Amino acid sequence: MTLLGEFSRLSAVFLPILLNFFLQGAHCELLVSPAGPPLLNAVAGSNVTLAVSFSGASDPAVTWLMSDLPVVTWTINSPAPPDIASNRRNVLRIEPNGSLTFINVPLDYSTNYSVEMTKAGLGKSFTNFTLKVFETIQNVTLSTQPDLAVEGSQRFTLQYRMQQGVVEQQMWFFNGIEINTNSRYSVENRSLVILRLNRSYTGRYTVSLTNPFSSETAHMNVTVLYGPDVPVLEAHPAQPFYASGASLSLSCQAEGLPQPTAEWAFGGLTLSDSRGGVLNLTNVQTSQGGVYTCTLLNELTKEKRQESMTLNIYEKPPGNPMCSVQSVNNADLQYHCRWSGGTPEAQLSFPALSNTSSGAGNFSLTITASDSLNGKTVTCMAEHPIQQNKCNVTASSPAQFLPAVRTTVDSDGKIVVTIRCVSEASPEAEVSWSRGSEAVAVGTTHHISSDTTQLTIRDYNISNFLLQTYTCVCRNPLGNQTREVQLRGPSVSDSSLFPNQDGTIITLTWEVPPTSVVTGFDIQMKGPDLLSRNRNGTRTRGTPNRFHTIQQKPGSARSTDIFNLDPEVTYRFRVIPKALMTEGEPSEVHRIGPGEGLSGSAVAGIAAGIPCSLLFLLLLGGFIYLCVYCYKNKSRQTRYPVSRAVEKTITTQTDSPPHNLLTAGLKSPPDYNRLQQTPSERSVALPSFVPPPPVRVATTV
Ligand SMILES: *[C@@H]1O[C@H](CO)[C@@H](O)[C@H](O)[C@H]1NC(C)=O
Ligand SMILES: *[C@@H]1O[C@H](CO)[C@@H](O)[C@H](O)[C@H]1NC(C)=O
Ligand SMILES: *[C@@H]1O[C@H](CO)[C@@H](O)[C@H](O)[C@H]1NC(C)=O
Ligand SMILES: *[C@@H]1O[C@H](CO)[C@@H](O)[C@H](O)[C@H]1NC(C)=O
Ligand SMILES: *[C@@H]1O[C@H](CO)[C@@H](O)[C@H](O)[C@H]1NC(C)=O
Ligand SMILES: *[C@@H]1O[C@H](CO)[C@@H](O)[C@H](O)[C@H]1NC(C)=O
Ligand SMILES: *[C@@H]1O[C@H](CO)[C@@H](O)[C@H](O)[C@H]1NC(C)=O
Ligand SMILES: *[C@@H]1O[C@H](CO)[C@@H](O)[C@H](O)[C@H]1NC(C)=O
Ligand SMILES: *[C@@H]1O[C@H](CO)[C@@H](O)[C@H](O)[C@H]1NC(C)=O
Repeated sequence: MTLLGEFSRLSAVFLPILLNFFLQGAHCELLVSPAGPPLLNAVAGSNVTLAVSFSGASDPAVTWLMSDLPVVTWTINSPAPPDIASNRRNVLRIEPNGSLTFINVPLDYSTNYSVEMTKAGLGKSFTNFTLKVFETIQNVTLSTQPDLAVEGSQRFTLQYRMQQGVVEQQMWFFNGIEINTNSRYSVENRSLVILRLNRSYTGRYTVSLTNPFSSETAHMNVTVLYGPDVPVLEAHPAQPFYASGASLSLSCQAEGLPQPTAEWAFGGLTLSDSRGGVLNLTNVQTSQGGVYTCTLLNELTKEKRQESMTLNIYEKPPGNPMCSVQSVNNADLQYHCRWSGGTPEAQLSFPALSNTSSGAGNFSLTITASDSLNGKTVTCMAEHPIQQNKCNVTASSPAQFLPAVRTTVDSDGKIVVTIRCVSEASPEAEVSWSRGSEAVAVGTTHHISSDTTQLTIRDYNISNFLLQTYTCVCRNPLGNQTREVQLRGPSVSDSSLFPNQDGTIITLTWEVPPTSVVTGFDIQMKGPDLLSRNRNGTRTRGTPNRFHTIQQKPGSARSTDIFNLDPEVTYRFRVIPKALMTEGEPSEVHRIGPGEGLSGSAVAGIAAGIPCSLLFLLLLGGFIYLCVYCYKNKSRQTRYPVSRAVEKTITTQTDSPPHNLLTAGLKSPPDYNRLQQTPSERSVALPSFVPPPPVRVATTV
């Protein structure tokens, strides 16, 4: 059993070997093989032979297949001609030894060939060939698709064309460096494709084409057009803003190929005078401030880009800021600051009062009044890009003041008394008026001016003015001042008399107490009538013993001149203040003249006196005269106004109570004419006083 199994295993191994050896030894097999290289390159138009050799049989049947299609069939050494496909007869020949020859081989014979040989009883054998037919490469040119290389194109193709040739290998170069297919380049049939073109692909492209028989290269310079890129917009000189009237230029520049053209526009209008992207602006006005837009154009690619910039043109407000302070409900202070009109408007603030609020152009800040603000100078800061400015304002409480009283007569003949209470204050003080203990009732009698500083009282009856005390209170949010005014009846204070040198003219002056109600003055005289040259030189001379009115002066008068006095005669003068018909106390009486005429009894007394005493008196008189004479010489230079001490020597107390001179209507009316005197003559310095003779002074004592 095992022996049998061993044998069968051995026979399974050796039997095929033995059988094969037997068969080969007994029958020679037909075998075909290439006689040269199985791969042939040929130039088109040349003669080429695919050479085969065979063994193991004689005169086999041969079949050549071109791309698996039989094209030639023949039995070697057969007298019958080979069977050649009719359309290939002018090219294909079969050699007696079975090789295939191509006469003037055309390009389209490049393919795979195989030869098959068969012999009855001896089997069949075949072998393969590859024939490549080439043409020399000539006149290679490059072209692009699209024509213009523009940055951003998704696909840009470089393609070669040639007049003739069969290319076995194409190679592409960029600036001499070989290009391999990668993410940006792809080498396709007869072309190089660049994906997502950009400016860095500008350069020299070369294609190199080769086959076993020739090689050709072609170049092309590719320029990738690009831009406009993001432009640079600049103003020269570079400033955050420009004052109106300034000159500047705007420039707009951007990279690009070709260089883009630039154009400026403002307010929707293209500014034609910009050249090369430069816009010159001279003497700019605030209306030229705003957004300027530059448009750039690549004239080849028609690519456009716009960019804008803002030009600030400022102008400071005219003048200077104005500060003021006002009262709000007499409790709060409203500080104002105003500086309006600029571009942009100035920013105003009162840093000392508030560091958080501010305003443009016109700013007010209301604060509760407090003592700390009284007299405090508050500065308004006015900030404008072109100029910083400021103004000051100081609020202060009403200052000390004196009320002023003025009296006039209105067209109805009423006495009009005006009381003014003006107290310097900021904000301006508001004045409230009261009469007695009550507020003044505005009506026909009382009137308060619109600015409240003036109270006007109208009445016929002077008594009504004197009954009440008027009070004015000047008030602003920072404080108040109160004054009382007790009106007085007509009165005169401090009257004086100044004669000229030769005693023909005197000037009377007087004052009125501040609260006195006076509408006019009567100037009264006691003594002979004044000389008058108006009446054909006839002189009238009287010796009245009573004061009579010679002039009437308005309430505003404080002096008067009296002319045509006779230096030889003694005159007495006084001033009567009046409120309409009501007369006040007369002024003191002023006397001028050689002295009091001596009465008859006095003369008699003197005549009856002891001559000794008369002699003594004469001596004494001479002594006094000498003293006075010396004094007079010393004071020659003294000019008007004379000192009060000198003045007093000519005043004497009135020796009679004042009479109501209005009843002295019997007297001739005073001569108001200034006679030959003119105002300019009156302005001549008044003469110094000439004292009366001492003897007479002594007798009056
Ligand atoms: C190719 O063969 C033909 C026919 O035999 C002959 O006329 C021709 O001259 C040959 N050409 C070349 C280049 O040898
Ligand atoms: C067959 O014949 C051709 C032409 O006659 C010759 O060139 C070739 O060398 C021959 N081949 C062999 C194997 O003899
Ligand atoms: C020729 O044969 C080779 C391999 O034998 C093959 O790769 C090639 O495609 C064939 N050519 C043609 C044209 O049939
Ligand atoms: C091919 O190129 C050569 C030289 O470059 C030129 O002389 C010839 O005329 C060209 N042929 C044609 C058909 O253009
Ligand atoms: C291409 O560019 C090279 C230099 O880069 C220059 O020498 C050559 O003349 C250019 N060729 C053409 C056709 O412009
Ligand atoms: C702008 O001014 C510059 C120099 O100030 C001058 O060179 C340029 O020509 C001017 N441009 C225009 C468009 O007027
Ligand atoms: C504003 O003023 C107050 C008091 O004067 C001060 O405490 C505060 O810090 C100031 N604020 C600023 C922003 O200056
Ligand atoms: C405003 O007041 C400040 C100080 O109180 C002073 O320095 C400045 O000169 C004043 N300015 C004006 C315009 O009066
Ligand atoms: C003036 O007023 C006083 C007091 O009111 C009065 O007594 C007197 O009669 C009045 N005089 C005239 C003329 O009205």
